[in-house]
Amino acid sequence: MHVSHLSLADFRSYARVEVPLDPGVTVFVGPNGQGKTNLVEAVGYLATLGSHRVSSDAPLVRAGAERAIVRAQVVQGERQQLVELELNPGRANRARINRSSQVRPRDVLGIVRTVLFAPEDLALVKGDPGERRRFLDELITARSPRMAGVRSDYDRVLKQRNTLLKTAAMARRHGGRQLDLSTLDVWDQHLARAAAELLAARLDLVATLQPLADKAYERLAPGGGPVTLGYRGSAGEALEEAAAGAPGAAGTPSREELFPLVLAALEGARKQEIERGVTLVGPHRDDLLLNLGRLPAKGYASHGESWSYALALRLASYELLRAEGGEPVLVLDDVFAELDVRRRERLAELVAPGEQVLVTAAVGDDVPGVLTGARFAVSEGVVERV
Ligand SMILES: Nc1ncnc2c1ncn2[C@@H]1O[C@H](COP(=O)(O)OP(=O)(O)O)[C@@H](O)[C@H]1O
Ligand SMILES: [Mg+2]
Repeated sequence: MHVSHLSLADFRSYARVEVPLDPGVTVFVGPNGQGKTNLVEAVGYLATLGSHRVSSDAPLVRAGAERAIVRAQVVQGERQQLVELELNPGRANRARINRSSQVRPRDVLGIVRTVLFAPEDLALVKGDPGERRRFLDELITARSPRMAGVRSDYDRVLKQRNTLLKTAAMARRHGGRQLDLSTLDVWDQHLARAAAELLAARLDLVATLQPLADKAYERLAPGGGPVTLGYRGSAGEALEEAAAGAPGAAGTPSREELFPLVLAALEGARKQEIERGVTLVGPHRDDLLLNLGRLPAKGYASHGESWSYALALRLASYELLRAEGGEPVLVLDDVFAELDVRRRERLAELVAPGEQVLVTAAVGDDVPGVLTGARFAVSEGVVERV
């Protein structure tokens, strides 16, 4: 698929902007702070309903404005669709497909598909587990948009269960009313159901991604691997064993198999959870393990290796999505400046054949020659074809 037109209103620094786009490579060039990333961030928002830079919508709305609108004309083979999102910080966002009836924002997922490379990606390797969980969950949702519902169910149940546990912990400390354990039992069932579904999707993803990430790393940094991915689950050894016993995607445990494991782990952690007033077991506590050779990448890999690893994870995501549901848009936000010449060239060669590749760069010469195509100059919020 590709985006043939992008319109923004009150998004970030843009009061209004219209950007006609072609398939193939498009490079946005301009000095820092002029609005290049803001453009591709909007495309990424349509794909994930989130920004790769901030965790809330408020900064995405132009200072002084009330709402932002992101609209894109999307071409998928013979099919054209117009998708529109209205961002209303503090209130519900709204969405439309083909100007017609209102749909839930979640219904837009799957129309625009992207794989986004950005300087922030280094945190996939060096950062906290939360960065890697988000990586997994965004990719799960790109593979299967209905997982957005499972993720939000999980988050909601987790929040409510935590509130209950916190109240119970406070009451214990201050000699108040004891927690009604049958209420907690009910929450455990809800939580375990959503957790098992999310875990099954993550384990399947990790197993599927593993060979692709290893191959991508080998292409970026020949002889530097191997890359192995693993999953560290908080739901006990039984889950780890179930995951480890599965060499291929076909063998990863199903949600039906995982449900009793999660429930048992919750039972095992119950005493501690009531003491501490927080849910200690579940996908929100897990991590994606990234190994390079025999060592974990985090804490051991060099800066250059960490970059190759992050790029390999994105390239693997690209291979996965295009194999399963057609070409996603590749977005390379300011990444070439971060890389040495060799990595630059290799990355450029690997992404160049993409149906649509959107690149931003402060210095045009940092973009390798194989990425030729349309160029836009971005300056003080004006986006002009050059
Ligand atoms: N919500 C907002 N309202 C107004 N301006 C914003 C908003 N968010 C970011 N900006 C401005 O956008 C600019 C950064 O744009 P960005 O696309 O990140 O630049 P770059 O071209 O370096 O990628 C900054 O000048 C920043 O002040
Ligand atoms: Mg930028």
